[in-house]
Amino acid sequence: MSERTLAIIKPDAVKKKVTGKIIQRIEDEGFRISRMEMIRPTRGLAEGFYAVHKSKPFYSSLTEFMSSGEIVVLLLERDGAIAHWRSVMGATDPAVAAPGTIRRAFGFSIERNAVHGSDGPDTAAWEIDYFFKNK
Ligand code: RTP
Ligand code: MG
Repeated sequence: MSERTLAIIKPDAVKKKVTGKIIQRIEDEGFRISRMEMIRPTRGLAEGFYAVHKSKPFYSSLTEFMSSGEIVVLLLERDGAIAHWRSVMGATDPAVAAPGTIRRAFGFSIERNAVHGSDGPDTAAWEIDYFFKNK
């Protein structure tokens, strides 16, 4: 059944000029891109998005990084979109992400790992609303 997920191309990947390669991969994997926007998030927007990680030691660094440059936010649709996009992204740490995954190919560190993907149906719905509600 067609499902929706929220993907982000993070500032490290945009700065590396691999946005086009990542979007091509998204299309090659059979996703339909139904919304897409490039934005420069404020610190507050990044903090709200990652509020679930507020208590983690990496929260401050993560939200500083996420607001350090432009990002591309995408609403993706496909059968099993959430799990499929997570598998295409690879593990959080690019050093241990499987060969062929986006994080293995383009990630720099456990923080600067090129892409984001929703981790379940509830977070996908919340994240899609966070960026695309009322637009
Ligand atoms: P994401 O939410 O961005 O798709 O990544 P994820 O599910 O694989 O990882 P998550 O645990 O949700 O962490 C969110 C983002 O925080 C940064 N991070 N840094 N320094 C660290 O140990 C650390 N751990 C996570 C990464 O940018 C990660 O994607
Ligand atoms: Mg996550």
